[in-house]
Amino acid sequence: MDVLEAMNSCTAMRYFQEKPVAKGEIEKLIHAATRASSPGNSQGWEFLIIDDPEVKRVVGEKVLAGMGPFFANRPTSDDAVEERMLKGAEHLARNFAKVPTWIVCMARKVYPPQDPQESFMHSTIYPAAQNLIVAARSLGIGTCFTTFPGMAEPDIRELCKVPDDLHMFVYVAVGYPERNFMPVKRKPVADVITWNTYS
Ligand SMILES: Cc1cc2nc3c(=O)[nH]c(=O)nc-3n(C[C@H](O)[C@H](O)[C@H](O)COP(=O)(O)O)c2cc1C
Repeated sequence: MDVLEAMNSCTAMRYFQEKPVAKGEIEKLIHAATRASSPGNSQGWEFLIIDDPEVKRVVGEKVLAGMGPFFANRPTSDDAVEERMLKGAEHLARNFAKVPTWIVCMARKVYPPQDPQESFMHSTIYPAAQNLIVAARSLGIGTCFTTFPGMAEPDIRELCKVPDDLHMFVYVAVGYPERNFMPVKRKPVADVITWNTYS
């Protein structure tokens, strides 16, 4: 698939088939992620792949314990798109353990070597994570960036023995889609572009 087409239809997928994603496919996604740019080519990224059903079950229970009250008490949104998104987010949280694979995108504070800064971890992990989701789309694999599993970060750290110097940024749900990919809805280019000088 053409890369522009993949970017254009890389919608957040919150509904997945239970069919597993093969190790080779996950490795392709990590290959794509690690083709990204990083500050000074420092490549301080790391990716934790979670597909162990027991780990997903324990983390999923923690996530639901944390998110359940929010979903139970949230008012219905007047905005249909937002309401659909929130319903999807709730479905994803409630079905955490059924998502075939979760990829935790992490980074180490390593740049610049003489005075490592936190901000460069963000600069490192987000281009890589975006490469990952576009590559997944091109392979017909759905993804959704999430941050809500962060409430189970201590559990993930303990269960998966994650070294302390790895910082967790975004948790990507990965699986074959149960819904269609759609064109993403974004602001028109004309609204966000300025050539040379603001008038
Ligand atoms: C850093 C980041 C965190 C996100 N966290 C969540 C999340 O916790 N739950 C969720 O359902 N979607 C999450 N999203 C997905 C966005 O909500 C989604 O991309 C946005 O609504 C646009 O929808 P689209 O990508 O399908 O066009 C996150 C996206 C980013 C970039």
